[in-house]
Amino acid sequence: VLLLDFPAGEHYKTRETKQYLDEQLINARFERNGTIIAVGGGVVGDVAGFVAATYMRGVPYIQIPTTVIAQADSSIGGKTAVDYPQGKNLIGAFHHPHSVFIDTKTLCTLDGRNYRSGFIEIIKHGLIRDASLFSFIERNIDFILSHKDKQYPSIITAIMTKNCRIKNDIVAKDAKEQNLRKILNYGHTVGHAIEHLSGYSLFHGEAVAIGIAAEAYFSWKIGYLSESDYQKQLNLIKKTGLPLRIPDNISVDDIIDKMYVDKKARGSRPEFVLLQKIGKVKTFARGKTTTPVEEKELRSMLSALKKMK
Ligand SMILES: NC(=O)c1ccc[n+]([C@@H]2O[C@H](COP(=O)([O-])OP(=O)(O)OC[C@H]3O[C@@H](n4cnc5c(N)ncnc54)[C@H](O)[C@@H]3O)[C@@H](O)[C@H]2O)c1
Ligand SMILES: [Zn+2]
Repeated sequence: VLLLDFPAGEHYKTRETKQYLDEQLINARFERNGTIIAVGGGVVGDVAGFVAATYMRGVPYIQIPTTVIAQADSSIGGKTAVDYPQGKNLIGAFHHPHSVFIDTKTLCTLDGRNYRSGFIEIIKHGLIRDASLFSFIERNIDFILSHKDKQYPSIITAIMTKNCRIKNDIVAKDAKEQNLRKILNYGHTVGHAIEHLSGYSLFHGEAVAIGIAAEAYFSWKIGYLSESDYQKQLNLIKKTGLPLRIPDNISVDDIIDKMYVDKKARGSRPEFVLLQKIGKVKTFARGKTTTPVEEKELRSMLSALKKMK
């Protein structure tokens, strides 16, 4: 076994890190009959997966994810990438892992902020696909958050198993994100804009929590979702200890600019995944899972959200 590592954090999810790893493999005469094993969070999984995708035109790799985000989301689905100064995940490849091994005990050493913010992706999987997962988390949230408890791994293993089945099922049906896989972006249209505008001071999961609160509100206001299903989402996000409100220093104009101007330059409009009820997304003509929202309407909904306490 050749053991390779690199410093932790998104700042190292770069082509320089990839180049370093490629060169180490070349120098060690690593061959195509070898296997890469990614042990770590989403950054390690995405970089190691991309190395595996391109090394000698592709070698197998195995994911051993150790954060909530990585166990719940990034280790499944074959998306691999590195960041560029111009944006996140700009260069990468679809390359599915040979297998994924999840040991929930690894989460016991994770700090509270990484732990809680990762959990939003599991909540999201419940929201878009499985009401029973959502209500299971609702009922057990206090126990889930006490993640250093000795009894903890058994319940979280049950949640993680359910979660991974949902993500795997969606990805298996639409690996290249033609339509169905887009539902995984619930909360992410607003969430990504907020994440970027916060200068990445908000974690991905925190920005997505704010994004889900906003997109749940749109789903209710446009008339697809009941008010009680909207409120349930807010309550669970709050109980998970995640933010709900758009930070004061981010204006409606900033968000609109981030979402529209970037897109308009490329001749497209931002698309939203909206909920019909907890566990089910709204589908549109010809089964489309996303819909554009007029800029004027979006601006008025975002302004109303900003005024809420
Ligand atoms: N490929 C995909 O489909 C996909 C999906 C979601 C997110 N992502 C990517 O995942 C990345 C975020 O992943 P992340 O949240 O795991 O971040 P991360 O990999 O940076 O890990 C967060 C921190 O936790 C530390 N850590 C890892 N495991 C630990 C453990 N068991 N105990 C204590 N500390 C531990 C890491 O060293 C790091 O400091 C982003 O780059 C994002 O783009 C990819
Ligand atoms: Zn996400």
